[in-house]
Amino acid sequence: MKYGYFDDANREYVITQPDTPLPWINYLGCQGYFGIISNTAGGYSFYRDARLRRVTRYRYNNVPYDLGGRYIYLRDEESGEFWSPSWQPTRHNLENYSCRHGLGYTIIGSSYKGIEARTNYFVPLDEDLEIWRLTATNRRSQPASLSVFSSIEFCLWDANDDAANFQRNFSIGQVEIEDGVIYHKTEYRERRNHFAYFGCSRKAEGFDTQREAFVGPYRGWEKPLAVERGRLSNSVAHGWAPIGAHHVKLDLGPGETQEVIFLLGYHENPQAQKFDPPDSQTVNKKTVKPIIANYLDSANVEAALERLRQYWDGLLAICQVATPDVHTNRMVNVWNAYQCMATFNMSRSASFYESGIGRGLGFRDSNQDLLGFVHMVPARARERILDLAATQLPSGGAYHQYQPLTKRGNNDVGSNFNDDPHWLIVGVAAYLKETGDWSILDEPVPYDNAPGSEQPLYEHLQRSFQYTLDRLGPHGLPLIGRADWNDCLNLNCFSDTPGQSFQTTTNKDGKVAESVFIAALFVLAGRELAEIARRRGREDEARRYLAEVAKMEDTVREYGWDGEWFLRAYDDFGRKVGSKECAEGKIFIETQGFCVLAGIGLDDGRAQTAMDSVAKHLATEHGIILQQPAYSKYYLELGEISSYPPGYKENAGIFCHNNPWVMIAETRVGNGDRAHDYYARINPSARESISDLHRCEPYVYSQMIAGRDAPTHGEAKNSWLTGTAAWNYYAITQWILGIRPSFEGLEIRPVIPKSWRGFKATRMFRGVTYHITVTREGEGNQAALRVNGVATEGAVVLPPAEGQREIAVDVTLK
Ligand code: GLC
Ligand code: GLC
Repeated sequence: MKYGYFDDANREYVITQPDTPLPWINYLGCQGYFGIISNTAGGYSFYRDARLRRVTRYRYNNVPYDLGGRYIYLRDEESGEFWSPSWQPTRHNLENYSCRHGLGYTIIGSSYKGIEARTNYFVPLDEDLEIWRLTATNRRSQPASLSVFSSIEFCLWDANDDAANFQRNFSIGQVEIEDGVIYHKTEYRERRNHFAYFGCSRKAEGFDTQREAFVGPYRGWEKPLAVERGRLSNSVAHGWAPIGAHHVKLDLGPGETQEVIFLLGYHENPQAQKFDPPDSQTVNKKTVKPIIANYLDSANVEAALERLRQYWDGLLAICQVATPDVHTNRMVNVWNAYQCMATFNMSRSASFYESGIGRGLGFRDSNQDLLGFVHMVPARARERILDLAATQLPSGGAYHQYQPLTKRGNNDVGSNFNDDPHWLIVGVAAYLKETGDWSILDEPVPYDNAPGSEQPLYEHLQRSFQYTLDRLGPHGLPLIGRADWNDCLNLNCFSDTPGQSFQTTTNKDGKVAESVFIAALFVLAGRELAEIARRRGREDEARRYLAEVAKMEDTVREYGWDGEWFLRAYDDFGRKVGSKECAEGKIFIETQGFCVLAGIGLDDGRAQTAMDSVAKHLATEHGIILQQPAYSKYYLELGEISSYPPGYKENAGIFCHNNPWVMIAETRVGNGDRAHDYYARINPSARESISDLHRCEPYVYSQMIAGRDAPTHGEAKNSWLTGTAAWNYYAITQWILGIRPSFEGLEIRPVIPKSWRGFKATRMFRGVTYHITVTREGEGNQAALRVNGVATEGAVVLPPAEGQREIAVDVTLK
């Protein structure tokens, strides 16, 4: 069953029924000011950091789910009836409800008793504000007299404190109201120099800023007293819960449409100009008033929307494909790229499953996110790489997370996730291949953000590599530390105390447990680093890296192979994890995918054997599960992985992030049918028709789909913020379709299904547009290239002569 449809031409997903199985959300903003918005206008906004600069309040775990948001109420002045055109919070039986989630905007529209209302919510480029543009049309044969009420609940900035520290919070809320604009200025009197504002393009009949005055005692958003009464009380918040609400009257003749613009924004004043007059406690509004005036103007709003459209046109044009599979096209051309922007911006911080108060930006996560993002805005990828590298520690290890606002490593979580440092090499290599900008390697970057400790970025990569060599275990495999990519395989934790964090508790000395996964990552990253070194003229270093890589490959062959698949790890007792010998958890996906994608076992048949084992033991119709058999009980020596009921999350769930590793691995053994088949199984668009089972958004990947051991096999969770986005984008575009930036130029090496006759693609790369046509002539993957009609050796299209901007590449597959 479906709850909507893809409008491919407009690049929108149109939801046609408000009660989707879960809130289906979108992101507003892609630079500094962000909002999460659900299909019923739920969600919240923040500036840069969902924890430290939360603009509006939101309660996860509410009943009903997803209550609190950007709510507008319409009230028929004649009958006194009121409703919300976004369905929530009043949940009326709307006619023609639709929610169009587009690229950076969401339009929610509906009709009720002859009144059509449509609100476009978006964040203009380069601004720290959001616009709600409401248009209301009277479809009745009689004039309609309406009241419009806006509403928002402010958060007292630090979202963690906001949800916990009531003894203080109930006394600190402060606002100002001037010319109909509500200024939320809690804590502005002391250490903050920022405030929020909420304005409206029409003359307001009244306002409210005290929540109790608006909703009324013992009431909620679904039936606010003030809306029921039809009048606001011009309340001024002193403590308690500051909100923003406006009342606007609309008299609409039959067929008439009118527009109201609401503007919610964040603004910072220079420290010395906080107050106006300077010796007062009044917010200096001179700096923000021009911005407000600008966006309360309809023509400027339209122009901002147009700019946003053009921005996305430009970003998406960089890589467009036309394959025989509509789901591939839709995801590559629009939605997967769009999701990569969200994961780049949010890492794993703020979604409907990530509260925004938990994690900041993850070191491993954000490096991997670059794989799907770097081609869109390389300059921002560059900045991100340097920020990440600055949180690296002198040991080569890294803070596991950092706060986006401060860009400082998060001490609570700390370090010692022994895979972390290598992802920096992977991220930098992707950046170099895409851009050819080798200057980044010379950028001075500090360790642990300590001034004076700056070294060229290249040295950071060297330390990343050395980090593992300094931490080898009894078999010569890398010690796992707190965890490798799988945060839940906690081999040094041994936690028996409720509430302890599996990620940060370490009860063992960590000298025994080893990770075959890190070995594979080391091989991959080491090869990249060697190539980087060679291209910088550092042959000796390159040779040394390759020698270490070769040694690690031997070690994996010797101690990391179980006969039919790669082992996963050794635990603190030196016992195998992910082996036939284990009672449960005999085979894991991560090492099958990653060893093969790193090239291990390609020359001795093990890669093929491992892939066949995945197909046999792990592949299900809903995707590839993480391990089998699932852990049926808690294993002290394995940690969080065995804390999940079988079939969920890392305990034999379909953890989508690692499925593309297997897709890439399948391309490496030349099996395009299997690679694309696995791709299709978790492709959200291909799963749209089972939305009642899948339950999450059909336009973005989710972190997890319940595995076959779960009673809800096929049900997705944790949509949006997952490494799945970048990895799937990377797998389909660079390995299956095979259009792959390399250090030399654009490599084209498709490994597509046998049944495909071919495909077309346009790829902009280092300032040149490549028009690629792939035609299948035989059943294999042998590619012959013609560049501008001329047959070329090999699979790499070298950069053209200066001035040439368009290149035609014809590829025949035999
Ligand atoms: C989550 C984490 C990621 C980790 C994965 C597997 O997605 O964000 O860092 O690799 O889980 O545990
Ligand atoms: C939990 C999750 C895992 C995530 C980790 C982050 O362990 O299962 O996916 O990476 O939390 O802290």
